[in-house]
Amino acid sequence: MAPENAEFYIEHNHFKKRLGKIKRNVRTSSCVLRGILNNDYSSKRLPLSWDDRPTRFDLINRLIANFHYENYLEVGCSTDACFQNIAAKTKLGVDPFSGGTHRMTSDEFFASNKGTFDIIFVDGLHQYAQVKTDLLNAVRVLDDDGIILVHDCLPLSFRAQLLFPAGGAWNGDVWKAFVEMRTHDDIDAAVCLIDHGVGMIAKRKNRKPLSLHPDAFIDLRFKDFVDQYPEWLNTITFDEALRFPAIV
Ligand SMILES: C[S@@+](CC[C@H](N)C(=O)[O-])C[C@H]1O[C@@H](n2cnc3c(N)ncnc32)[C@H](O)[C@@H]1O
Repeated sequence: MAPENAEFYIEHNHFKKRLGKIKRNVRTSSCVLRGILNNDYSSKRLPLSWDDRPTRFDLINRLIANFHYENYLEVGCSTDACFQNIAAKTKLGVDPFSGGTHRMTSDEFFASNKGTFDIIFVDGLHQYAQVKTDLLNAVRVLDDDGIILVHDCLPLSFRAQLLFPAGGAWNGDVWKAFVEMRTHDDIDAAVCLIDHGVGMIAKRKNRKPLSLHPDAFIDLRFKDFVDQYPEWLNTITFDEALRFPAIV
């Protein structure tokens, strides 16, 4: 490439990056403004940190070892950062873009799948409706003694739970789908306080059903979540999470 072309290329890329950042900031500011107008916004940050805590795959591997789970399914694999670290007898990973073993959406997978699994990790599209669909499908194909894990249940800030990555950690509104699961009578659910909040779902009577009846769970407010999250999510420690599948 001629030097003048290389210079143009570098400047063009630099400009594109800056423009992307400006667009993202405008989008984020308009969401904050809408959040303020809808009484949804809170500037509070949840008083939690994931540093020096176990990861999602530490928890998954400990559960596999302790409960002899054999058939692992991961929904949303990305770079396989988790998938490649899982020590299960059989592993199946679904992602339309990268990683895993099946190049398709979770909806396509569940529509054609005939198998069952004893441990399922849901970490696909971080938007309420898709997470709810993924969780209900996961419950359907889960063995009775199996366990479902869900990543990103605990956004620490308003920005982190927007419907698009707004810079920094992005958890989307997975939390709203999980709070809804907490109201079901026939599943028991809790969120382990590690790695952006790892939700756990077992097929049994709900021991601590959440009594919350909004018109629509998608309209839950982050402003309320900030104070109510321990009850809404039923938060538990890592040690409690290691025992969660065995509770009768
Ligand atoms: C946060 S990443 C997954 C990270 C991975 N599970 C881990 O722990 O390292 C989310 C992934 O979900 C995938 N995804 C997006 N829409 C999806 C869908 N409808 N079905 C399945 N995966 C989806 C994206 O391609 C992306 O790779």
